[in-house]
Amino acid sequence: MEAYLLDWASLLVRWLHLITAIAWIGTSFYFVWLDNHLEPPNLPLKGVSGEIWSVHGGGFYNKHKYLVAPDQLPEKLHWFKWEAYWTWISGFSLLVITYYARAESMLIDRSVADITPAAAIGISIGMILLAQIVYEGLCRSSLCNKDGLLGLAGFILLVAATAALGHVFGARGVYIQVGAMLGTIMVANVAMVIIPGQRKMVASMLRGETPDPIHGIRGKQRSMHNNYMTLPVVFIMISGHYPMTYGHENAWLVLALVFIAGALIRHFFNLRHKGRTVIAYPLAGVVILAGVAILIAPRPQAVGGEKVTFSQVNAVLQARCTSCHASVPTQPGFAQPPGGIVLQSPERIAQLVEKIHQQVVVSRVMPPGNLTGITDDERALIGRWIAQGAPTQ
Ligand code: HEC
Repeated sequence: MEAYLLDWASLLVRWLHLITAIAWIGTSFYFVWLDNHLEPPNLPLKGVSGEIWSVHGGGFYNKHKYLVAPDQLPEKLHWFKWEAYWTWISGFSLLVITYYARAESMLIDRSVADITPAAAIGISIGMILLAQIVYEGLCRSSLCNKDGLLGLAGFILLVAATAALGHVFGARGVYIQVGAMLGTIMVANVAMVIIPGQRKMVASMLRGETPDPIHGIRGKQRSMHNNYMTLPVVFIMISGHYPMTYGHENAWLVLALVFIAGALIRHFFNLRHKGRTVIAYPLAGVVILAGVAILIAPRPQAVGGEKVTFSQVNAVLQARCTSCHASVPTQPGFAQPPGGIVLQSPERIAQLVEKIHQQVVVSRVMPPGNLTGITDDERALIGRWIAQGAPTQ
């Protein structure tokens, strides 16, 4: 019953997380687009630096951007912050429900590091905080005005953290931990820099003073950091379905390359909004992704070796997999067979050969955290059986 309720909590919170993230990324992409498309105003308006016309949903819109602020504050001013806050609240809840509550299988891999669930959760939260402190430190250091160097330093630290986490967590836990660290940085940028800066600007206007433009400049910088992190972070959030990425022996390198590709593609759109189309950026991104695909492609298995029978393989699957992958799992924490995968009949196993190969032999992410203690010989046995055509007779 408890596992069933956990599944419902996970479903509802995941739903919420997706919706709030769409709203957040949607508004943030829209405002970057808006900013980059501004043109000098047709009719001179005091303090207005740009304007834009657009048509949407059957109506015409004419927006103006003030360089610092209008002379007078309007009565109703719309803020955009709850999309970001709820994305974090739902995202952290999801981390607790899917990873912390099942730390044994989702975070820990005893062959990587023999740690307790409490230690794993402590490290996860500690690293989220540490990432925030280091990022904030970088942004306030002498690099603060050097966007390129700041980005490079942040990227190197990120790759180092990913590689280090690979020695602490199981494969599945590493990417999501990095995603949680980056997502937290992004939301903190909204909560701790962008929104407080806007509050200060509004407050000085209410006092009848001209707001200090530094708040706008800082807010814009953090907003651009978020913009470049968006694509890689969304990749991390969906990567859990693709063990070829997070399960690769050089998973940190895969993530680093995908990160560069995502940021390059984002950069293309940012330039394009301003009227510059530099096709080399997305092209470079696609070449990098193609390189990653080649790098992590499964190597063909040698067909040789002793003939493997289905009953040998079936014995391994029943011993190592069906505590979870049964129509009624016996593994605590699982109310239904995960991913809908049931490995109890030869017919079903025959249909799943490709997936079993990917999960058990190539990326070795199943069983998660090697909870059921599958041996290397057993993995090799399954690999040989598949190379021999995976007979189920
Ligand atoms: C401790 C429970 C557990 C054990 C034991 C386990 N799995 Fe899984 N398995 C999972 C979970 C959880 C998922 C879903 C992962 C996700 O959310 O993407 C999964 C997913 C899968 C998938 C589906 C992947 C996809 O592409 O949809 C396959 C195939 C699979 N497991 C095979 C195996 C095999 C083969 C074994 C035994 C060698 C095994 N699993 C042992 C928990 C387990």
